Formats: sequence, C-alpha cells, structure tokens
Amino acid sequence: MAYKTLTRATLVASLAVGAAFSASAADKPKLMMGADAAMLANTCAGCHGSNGSSMGPASPTIAGLSPTYFEETMAGFASGEIPSTIMGRIAKGYTEEEIKAIAKYYAGKPFNKGKQSFDADLAAKGAKLHDKYCEKCHADGGTSAEDDAGVLAGQWTPYLTWTMADFKAGDREATKKMKKKLSALLEREGNEGLNALINYYASQQQ
Ligand code: HEC
Ligand code: HEC
Repeated sequence: MAYKTLTRATLVASLAVGAAFSASAADKPKLMMGADAAMLANTCAGCHGSNGSSMGPASPTIAGLSPTYFEETMAGFASGEIPSTIMGRIAKGYTEEEIKAIAKYYAGKPFNKGKQSFDADLAAKGAKLHDKYCEKCHADGGTSAEDDAGVLAGQWTPYLTWTMADFKAGDREATKKMKKKLSALLEREGNEGLNALINYYASQQQ
C-alpha cells in the first residue's frame, strides 16, 4: 500500500494542510451555557470525519470511545506524555470542560470500521493472539470501549502500527498489566505477532 512508503510526519503534514485546522483560542468557538459540543467538534472533522469516523489512514477514528479514555488521551497529548505529531498542539487549545463536552459528543457516535486491506492468514493468527494477550481488556475482539482502553477493531492500520511502535519503544507508556502482556507477546511471537494482531484488527470491517 502506498502509505507504507510514507513517513508518519509526511502523512500528517499533508493532512494538516488539507484540514486547515486552527486550535488557537481566538478562532475557537466559545463554550457557552448549553454547550454546543457539535460546534467545537467542527475543528476535528477535517481529520477525524464529520462524525468521528475518519477516512484514515493517519487520523484514527474517534467515535464511540469511552469518555474516560478520550479525556485521558487528550490530557496525555497536551502534557506530552502521549507522543503525537499534531494532537499535542490541538489538545492544548481546549479547557477541561470543553474536552469533556467533546468526549461526550463523540462517545454517542458509532465507530464505523475502516475499509482497508489485510492478509487473511495473518488475521487468523492475530485473532488467536488477541484472545490470548489482549481480549481481557480490549473485549469483544477489540470492539468494546467499556474498559476505557480505546477501540482496536476497525481502527486504521497506519495509526495502529505507529501507536504500537510507540508502546513497544516505551515512548507511550502502557499500563503495567498491558505492558506485561505486550512484552510476553513480543518475547514469544516477535514483530510478526504484532503484525498479525494489526491485520486482525484491519480484518474487522462490519
Ligand atoms: C490536522 C488533523 C487533525 C485534527 C484537526 C484533529 N486531529 Fe485528533 N488526531 C490526529 C492524528 C494524526 C492523531 C494521532 C496522534 C498524532 O499523531 O497527533 C489524532 C489522534 C486523536 C485522538 C486519539 C484517538 C485514540 O484512539 O487514541 C483523539 C481522542 C483525537 N485525536 C481527538 C481530536 C479532537 C477532539 C479534535 C478537535 C478538537 C482533533 N482530534 C483534531 C489528527 C487530527
Ligand atoms: C490489562 C489490560 C490490557 C491489556 C491486557 C491490553 N491492553 Fe491495550 N490498553 C489498555 C488500557 C487501559 C489502555 C488505555 C490507556 C493507555 O493509553 O495506556 C490501552 C490502550 C491500548 C492502545 C491505544 C488505543 C488507541 O486508540 O490509541 C492500543 C493500540 C492497545 N492498547 C493495544 C493492545 C494490544 C495489541 C494488546 C495485546 C497485546 C493490549 N493492548 C493488551 C489495557 C490493556
């Protein structure tokens, strides 16, 4: 696939130009009484799709996430604890109250799984690895948002690939328990295991 030859920064930079976003305080719609979260979410639509299901491949789908995961991730971007190409700057442009309103807004939208290519054999292997190493917290094959752990099934492959690379390198800190499972997976299955998992998530398309 063409995006495999592109770097993350190149892909995201081209997105940023297309979306012509602005997160500066002056341009941002004010959150008044009776908060219009939909208005705030306008700023996100260029990259994440009008209802939070992005057209991919570098911007993840953000619909249907748990508000807790959403808020903590935005805080992580703002503090720099979660590495990002673009969200660090954007996340800093909003108050906690505004983030809460946006998180709630997107939580109510369906997560539309991305239509993307995958390798069927790897996906089958990935399904087994998921059950063994990830299902406990990323329930229902990675579809569930219930454990405040993000949604994996149907998320865009480039985004997941980069995110997993960040976890692997320790640039993004996983919770202790996830770290343990991820280390066990990498020890026994190596990068191929990780690749199988990512193909499994890409294979979930309905
Ligand atoms: C210019 C494109 C762009 C805009 C505009 C944008 N995002 Fe993002 N978003 C990204 C990219 C790319 C990532 C992946 C992290 C990174 O590299 O910055 C991301 C990641 C996220 C994530 C993490 C998703 C996950 O599964 O962990 C959330 C939440 C998010 N964005 C929310 C928002 C919100 C809310 C807005 C509007 C206020 C917004 N984004 C505006 C490109 C964008
Ligand atoms: C013990 C529970 C647990 C296990 C097991 C676990 N995770 Fe997680 N995972 C979490 C939690 C909690 C978060 C959200 C907090 C964070 O960012 O660390 C998360 C976040 C993630 C994210 C970020 C989601 C996003 O949208 O950016 C990815 C990707 C991920 N996990 C993949 C995996 C994979 C693959 C496995 C199996 C090898 C796994 N996790 C096993 C609890 C777990």
